[in-house]
Amino acid sequence: MKPKISVIGAGNVGAQCAYRLAQRGAAEVVLVDVVEGLPQGKALDMSQAGALDGFDVRVTGSNGYEATGDSQVVVITAGLARKPGMSRDDLIHKNAEIMKVVVGNAVKYSPGAVLLIVTNPLDVMTYHALRISGFPANRVLGMAPLLDAARMRYFIAQAMKAPISQVYAEVMGSHGDLMVPVPRLSTVNGKPITELMTPEQIKLIVDKTTNGGAEIVNLLKTGSAYYAPGSAAARMAEAIVKDEKIIINSCCYLTGQYGIKDVCLGVPARLGRNGVEEIIELELIGEELVKLKKAAAAVKELTNILLIPHT
Ligand code: APR
Repeated sequence: MKPKISVIGAGNVGAQCAYRLAQRGAAEVVLVDVVEGLPQGKALDMSQAGALDGFDVRVTGSNGYEATGDSQVVVITAGLARKPGMSRDDLIHKNAEIMKVVVGNAVKYSPGAVLLIVTNPLDVMTYHALRISGFPANRVLGMAPLLDAARMRYFIAQAMKAPISQVYAEVMGSHGDLMVPVPRLSTVNGKPITELMTPEQIKLIVDKTTNGGAEIVNLLKTGSAYYAPGSAAARMAEAIVKDEKIIINSCCYLTGQYGIKDVCLGVPARLGRNGVEEIIELELIGEELVKLKKAAAAVKELTNILLIPHT
């Protein structure tokens, strides 16, 4: 029997994630949303694409959580998306309320699951989900660093006219202005981009990566990116259900790694059946570590907003 992955929120990101999971054949997929008919309709549409795209996995939609029972991974995309002029942080209170309901149900119906958070602001929502769930820290992680690295890979590939498959990008920190792309550890054909590009070219890539989401929000005008975010979430959920033990940069709860404690932040992590099976501590130098600590402090400050009762 295939494992089960539930995707909560059948909007743009959730639907793309569910569809990529179906295409990859990684698991049975259950799509949940509060809007009546939406998850059912999208699930049916995706299932019918199986005849064309050559997959045969079960995709179902539901407005309730019974169908999600005993999921190995629950991907949470439910919430509001950004509109032009909004920062990810503007979403905080609304999405925190949604998160409370969704995480409560995920815990009730799938007490052994790994929770993969996609809802923004990502680092804060991951921490919030960890607290609400009462799960051990390895079973709650966030998606964005893989997405940010994919964006940086794209920008490097474009600038160097290199195949994207030959490009590696190291991105840590927070999913926002305090993202920490690390050019020294980003490579084309194994060679650091610091040896291949000028400091001006590198700065441009770092800036474009940090603003990658905003650039798309400004173009779309009515919502935020979803193809790459959905694909990133699907890839991570797949790595977990297949127990791949692969290193994927993820938003993880830190307990002293990099000298940072009690905050969820993007770092390289080994993903397997138990979620985050190991946090990898890279040797960061100078500014790299300073920036990571600055990101940690900012995320912590934002996270603390949720500890104060909101009216
Ligand atoms: N339970 C289930 N689904 C919910 C709930 C809830 N309590 N509240 C809202 N939703 C659903 C909405 O009905 C909607 O279908 O979440 C879905 C969100 O979809 P979109 O509005 O299309 O947003 P999307 O682009 O998918 O982004 C979702 O991911 O990348 C982040 O910033 C983004 O936080 C946002 C999230």
